[in-house]
Amino acid sequence: MIGDIFSLVEAHEEWRGKKCLNLIPSENVMSPSVRRLLSSDFAHRYTSRDKFYRGTRFTDEIEALGEKFACDVFDAETADLRPLSGHIADLVFIAGFAKPGDTLMCVSAENGGYPGIWKQGLPSFLQLKLVEFPFSRQEMNIKVEEAQEVICEIKPNLIIFGASLFLFPHPVRELVETAEQVDAKIGFDGSHVLGLIGGREFQNPLQEGADALFGSTHKTFFGPQGGIILARKEYGEVLRRKVFPAFVDNAHWNRIVALTLALVEMKEFGRAYARQVIRNAQTLAKALADYGFPVACQHLGFTRSHQVWLNYGDYKKGGNIASRLEKANIIADSGVRLGTCEVTRRGMREQEMMKIAEYIKRIVMDNEDVEKVKHDVERLLQDFQRVHYCFDTK
Ligand SMILES: Cc1ncc(COP(=O)(O)O)c(C=O)c1O
Repeated sequence: MIGDIFSLVEAHEEWRGKKCLNLIPSENVMSPSVRRLLSSDFAHRYTSRDKFYRGTRFTDEIEALGEKFACDVFDAETADLRPLSGHIADLVFIAGFAKPGDTLMCVSAENGGYPGIWKQGLPSFLQLKLVEFPFSRQEMNIKVEEAQEVICEIKPNLIIFGASLFLFPHPVRELVETAEQVDAKIGFDGSHVLGLIGGREFQNPLQEGADALFGSTHKTFFGPQGGIILARKEYGEVLRRKVFPAFVDNAHWNRIVALTLALVEMKEFGRAYARQVIRNAQTLAKALADYGFPVACQHLGFTRSHQVWLNYGDYKKGGNIASRLEKANIIADSGVRLGTCEVTRRGMREQEMMKIAEYIKRIVMDNEDVEKVKHDVERLLQDFQRVHYCFDTK
């Protein structure tokens, strides 16, 4: 029995960790040092703001340090590292500022918004009304003038920018004034693009006028799985008081210590990393489009983020393609969104993106024997086993 656990982990590590080309845009790899901190003694310990638990002197220092680095990396006035996931960070912002019957405006799930803050997600549970941003499928972005009109008419209490299918910066700056006129709180769910924001290669929502930026710390941001809230002072302080005891009790301090180191990595290496992530996405998109794949937004240069969207129109077709790719150790989602964050962190650049596009074409278009492509994928990966953009040298 015990052996089964270890052998499953070993098999997973060998396959997903070493032999798979991971193009899931929601995943990344941690540096060896960040990963090591996850299993430090902090993994056993409790603490909470009311100081009920003792023995936290180093924990408190880590928390203060992490918050300081986070403010620095994101130009925030306050930072809170305690949310256990991006979803919980969304919950803190929404429940922190809205009451039942209030209206939340965001990108609909049909247009690539996060399903967790759409109809079946948090808003129904919190009894909120939902209004979708007017959205252009052509531009894969919010329509500014129409959004201004809807905001003036509906007067939403909360507006959340950001999405799960996220190719281009959202018009925060353009809509802030209108949002402020109706007294809406402005949030930005940066789960997907947090590492690009931290690397200063994407929009900076807080500088553009958002009240809070929140999301996951493990997609383009290369930390442990978890959440974060960054905010302007007056909003951050309100949310901080809500996090404990309403939404997080024990904040998982091994995660926070690991996140603190990942923040330092982001400060030091984030710019080069984020720039390469975007370049890689643009290169992959163009190569796939040249092969005839239905890559979205060609007229806009395909993407300004880590994502490339193969628009097959429905998940069934997308799922079929993702299954075929998986047989050759190329891991994607049914969307079909392809993300370049993990391959970039493993050191891949433009020439490898051309190879990846070719592998995808051989599977999807040429119907080549998957074993042959899998062999080439595994051979490519042999040269990319080390994590880059970090202090570790091995
Ligand atoms: C935009 C967005 N927000 C929030 C989440 C939830 O993040 P987590 O998985 O960290 O809870 C996701 C998940 O993919 C997402 O895409």
